Amino acid sequence: MKILILGVNGFIGNALANELIKKRGTKIYGLDVNNQNIKNLLLNKNFVFKRGLVEKNDKWVESHIKKSDVIIPLIAIATPKVYVTDPLKVFQLDFESNLKIIKWCSKYKKYILFPSTSEVYGMSKDGKFNEYKSNLVVGPVHKSRWIYSTSKQLLDRVIIAYGEQRKLKYTLFRPFNWIGPKLDTLERAQLGNGRVLTIMISNLIKNKNITLVNNGIQKRSFTYIDDGIDALLKIINNRNKLNKKIFNIGNPKNNISIKKLSDILLNEYRINSKVEYRGKIVSKSEKSFYGSAYQDISQRVPDISEAKKLLGWKPKFNLRMSIALTLKSFL
Ligand code: UGA
Repeated sequence: MKILILGVNGFIGNALANELIKKRGTKIYGLDVNNQNIKNLLLNKNFVFKRGLVEKNDKWVESHIKKSDVIIPLIAIATPKVYVTDPLKVFQLDFESNLKIIKWCSKYKKYILFPSTSEVYGMSKDGKFNEYKSNLVVGPVHKSRWIYSTSKQLLDRVIIAYGEQRKLKYTLFRPFNWIGPKLDTLERAQLGNGRVLTIMISNLIKNKNITLVNNGIQKRSFTYIDDGIDALLKIINNRNKLNKKIFNIGNPKNNISIKKLSDILLNEYRINSKVEYRGKIVSKSEKSFYGSAYQDISQRVPDISEAKKLLGWKPKFNLRMSIALTLKSFL
């Protein structure tokens, strides 16, 4: 089996490549602008790496789509701060670059495993979010926070239309706040350019204040990366039966407030670090933390019955373990 992973050095890409390469007979083609997370793979004869930007390597990308059985485009900006500071960049990379890839997959009749996002559900109040039933609810257009959600939503719809009209074979998966080693870098997270857990970890390590946006009452369901990768492997191995399916990949049991996340993290830091944290926990409004183009999501719990039923999958890592393993990797 030949698999093309675009964004192979990223958080999901490197973890997935490391698991896939273990299976005999698997060849991975990977593209990324960086390679610090995949150094161990570079000498493997079943791993072919191209360093570069997806936007600047059309020929390479097209020719490797032609050669591959499974295409996994993981190239996207997925940090909320950038949705607000550079929405055009988000649109160009997340939407335009991926649209091109989807079209090539259709043209060459290739299976695409596409990362949708938990963000497509937006501010929906439909309880546990269901792939086929929940409404997708976003805010007004000047709130550019939603450019990521809507770009991904439109790509989901485009893929589904290609499936209906041009027989494109696909599976969509929606990660719900996956966390783990190599999620962001501490340097980038330090600038607010990361996800909440890495931003908090980088503040802990640098003894800077930890910010709870809107007092941290909003909730997320955090999912450990190994559980996510386990689900992706099951999808890839059973892809012929999973054409046109959509899967929420998340852990509804790990649904907590951001305040509670900071409490658990501080406790784990006390246990695992020899150094005492000298910063403070402060609260800021979403406007002062992200700017006026931001809007928060108060709750986001996945319905994972589809993944349980069709993949025989369920998440195994509880919250404390997931947070502790992530923290330790950065320490
Ligand atoms: C994320 C990102 O959009 C993507 O990574 C991804 O598609 C998706 O969710 C996902 O992983 O499922 P979000 O959960 O809002 O969106 O992003 P985080 O940066 O992880 O923030 C979570 C919550 O923590 C937000 O309510 C935010 O306001 C809050 N926060 C963030 C803080 O209280 N303090 C901080 O320092 C940073």
